[in-house]
Amino acid sequence: MLDLINKVHDENRQGEAFAPFPVDENHYKKHFYIESYGCSMNFADSEIVASILQDQGFGATRNMEIADLIFINTCSIREKAEQTVRKRLTDFKKLKRARPGLLVGVLGCMAERLKAKFLEEEKLVDMVVGPDAYRTLPGLIEEAETGQKAVNVLLSRDETYADIAPVRLDSNGVSAFVSIMRGCNNMCSFCVVPFTRGRERSRDAESILAECTNLYNDGYKEVTLLGQNVDSYYYVNERSDETVTFASLLEKVAQIGSDLRVRFSTSHPKDITDEVLHIMAKYENICKYIHLPVQSGSSRVLQLMNRTYTREWYMAKVDRIREILPDCGISSDIIAGFCTETVEDHEDTLSIMEYSRYDLSYMFFYSERPGTLAARRYQDDIPLEVKKRRLQEIVDLQGRLSRESNLLDLGKTFTVLAEGPSKKNPADWMGRSSQNKVIVFPKPEGLKKGDYVKVKVTDCTQATLLGRVEE
Ligand code: 5AD
Ligand code: SF4
Repeated sequence: MLDLINKVHDENRQGEAFAPFPVDENHYKKHFYIESYGCSMNFADSEIVASILQDQGFGATRNMEIADLIFINTCSIREKAEQTVRKRLTDFKKLKRARPGLLVGVLGCMAERLKAKFLEEEKLVDMVVGPDAYRTLPGLIEEAETGQKAVNVLLSRDETYADIAPVRLDSNGVSAFVSIMRGCNNMCSFCVVPFTRGRERSRDAESILAECTNLYNDGYKEVTLLGQNVDSYYYVNERSDETVTFASLLEKVAQIGSDLRVRFSTSHPKDITDEVLHIMAKYENICKYIHLPVQSGSSRVLQLMNRTYTREWYMAKVDRIREILPDCGISSDIIAGFCTETVEDHEDTLSIMEYSRYDLSYMFFYSERPGTLAARRYQDDIPLEVKKRRLQEIVDLQGRLSRESNLLDLGKTFTVLAEGPSKKNPADWMGRSSQNKVIVFPKPEGLKKGDYVKVKVTDCTQATLLGRVEE
């Protein structure tokens, strides 16, 4: 069950591991296959990698069997994520033994964390490439083709891949991720991201707007602006001297088209401003949904986590969101069993969940990551069974909160962006409300992907709203 929670996290919010569609397989001499794990940022990065490879004459394929190159874009956030990748590498090893010319490359956070050590640990890996080194992939492939091991894990202070047009892999043609910044400067003590993705840097605003405009012109109806901490987006246009903050960027993207939905993730509670909330209120096409990770409800634990806010500060932020955006969905990330966590600290987490009335949470037990501040400073002293028990209490409470939130929607009508058939029954279609809730409804005649429909909610489960399209 607990294993499932981590998996559900990775699959729900962060998409399933995927391999791209073939892009005219006959057109290319060589083919690459890429699988992605972890956060949305990794999925967006795989689309940049695909673009770089395609420019060099490599075609994407969904079929591992015909691939000349296999890439795995990895995640290090919890130990479990790394174990999943290692298991997958053993599958690739078998393929490699059968086809000696096949090259295997490890990309992303695990490549960065383990660097050349990876080549010792996983003998059949040929390339190890960190998140800021994807432009050097063509050279690294050439090196690996001569039988050498190829490694580039240099982090950069300014790489944003701003000029690279991502190749949309496995896209539904309706929604796309757009990366607006890279790295993180926050140094939350539990988190490995500042070490694997480097310093925070914002991408040139004009290239972001150009990418969103192109998506809109190609028929996309939703963009999600991605960054580890979007509220600290900050860009100065050297030509015009204009300063672009996250609030102004959001406004510019919202102005591209009133039927282009705009979402963003992730917001750090210390950084989200009233200005952002007011821009959200001003534009109907900016979705009323904020992912606002709390991590813990105890001020003492928050301090050890280096989150730089207290329980009271967080609660005031929730109040402010509800005041300016009364119909806003709020979700969270929660960690159970961080170092020194007492029963009282845990109860503070449960009570802040009640207070915030989260529609959804991604819930984990603490997993110590080598090299992080917490690993260096504190003892991972909460026994695993206690972590799991506390996590289960958090999961149970979130189940109740999600159900209660869904019950409040019964009888209401939402504008839903139709994404396609529901997994369970192809006669039903699914889409999302502005608040990011999944709504399933019988497909009316003529409905197409990317259409907006008004759906009246008639029933619900804990995870899904059920409804019917209103005339
Ligand atoms: N252990 C457990 N959960 C973690 N997260 C980040 N690092 C760890 C860790 N070491 C969670 C946080 C973060 C989410 C992406 O993953 O809740 O917000
Ligand atoms: Fe990790 Fe904190 Fe940065 Fe999020 S804000 S990536 S949790 S260091």
